[in-house]
Amino acid sequence: MERLVWWNGEFVKESEAKISIYDSALMFGDMIFEMTRSFNKKQFKLREHLERLYQSAKHIHLDIPITIDEMEQAVYDTIEANEHLFGDDDEHRIMIDISRGLLGIYEANVRGVKPGPNVIIADFPLRWTVSAMAHLFDSGINAVIPSQRNIPADLLEPKVKNRSRIHYLMANIEVSKMKGKDNWALLLDPDGYISEGTDDNFFIVKDGVIITPEGRNILRGISRDYIFELADQLDIPCVERNIEPYDVMFADEAFMTATPFCILPVTRFNHNPIADGKMGEITNLLLDTWSDNVGVDIAGQIKSYAKDADSNSPTPYEFKK
Ligand SMILES: Cc1ncc(COP(=O)(O)O)c(C=O)c1O
Repeated sequence: MERLVWWNGEFVKESEAKISIYDSALMFGDMIFEMTRSFNKKQFKLREHLERLYQSAKHIHLDIPITIDEMEQAVYDTIEANEHLFGDDDEHRIMIDISRGLLGIYEANVRGVKPGPNVIIADFPLRWTVSAMAHLFDSGINAVIPSQRNIPADLLEPKVKNRSRIHYLMANIEVSKMKGKDNWALLLDPDGYISEGTDDNFFIVKDGVIITPEGRNILRGISRDYIFELADQLDIPCVERNIEPYDVMFADEAFMTATPFCILPVTRFNHNPIADGKMGEITNLLLDTWSDNVGVDIAGQIKSYAKDADSNSPTPYEFKK
């Protein structure tokens, strides 16, 4: 039995879900996407992810051929079609990819390929992404600044979640070659301020205030938005502000956020401990509150996935040497 992929309105086997070599996605990296997760099999902030997807599409002048409501329904249909292949403790990681389709110059000549955008919805177990991260809830990430900078909004809009990601990959390769383990790239913008990780947003805590870079040269993460909600719930001030590397070095706490793992502590910066080099109190409280709100012990679940995983496999942010 194979997982099914929603492919332009029909279900195809995952191994048969393909796009043409003449598709603009392969020619230009011209593809927008979203990736979600569930808690107890219930999708988290799906509508927010879809809204970001439709904004990304509008920004790159791509007309998605179905409405946002139809897309939402297609996601639920995809989950239903695949649920029987998921374990009781699995969560559904949805990946929506949208390509512009065949480049105009090939349309007249390439046979057997449907014209127009491709809408592809895949569904795979969350454990694939997170099982190699379990230990990071205890020891934390070493955030490292690579020479590769983030691309700022005035050159290419990072708020559009798109597949032109070689700069992120270059950063991952660079930090993977550095000494030690668990090095995750933390990219500067061209002004020398912290922007984000290659797949995650960044926060520090200083004197009881949660601080994150302004939403300018970053992807505005759905998890990042949720930190503001949690901070509100906990009555902890949370602000957007320019952060310099110096501020990170002398922060009280630091953490990363992203959909698959929610929150991971950053305990080191450029190989130096941040404060006492342990997960901070506010970081812990945010993670616990998130877990309570969604009814899943987020770290505990990822640790349980790690038990049957290959402990040598890299995280998605590491590059296999
Ligand atoms: C570059 C980048 N920044 C931040 C994030 C975190 O976003 P979210 O919280 O929506 O997963 C992602 C996640 O895909 C990302 O690719």
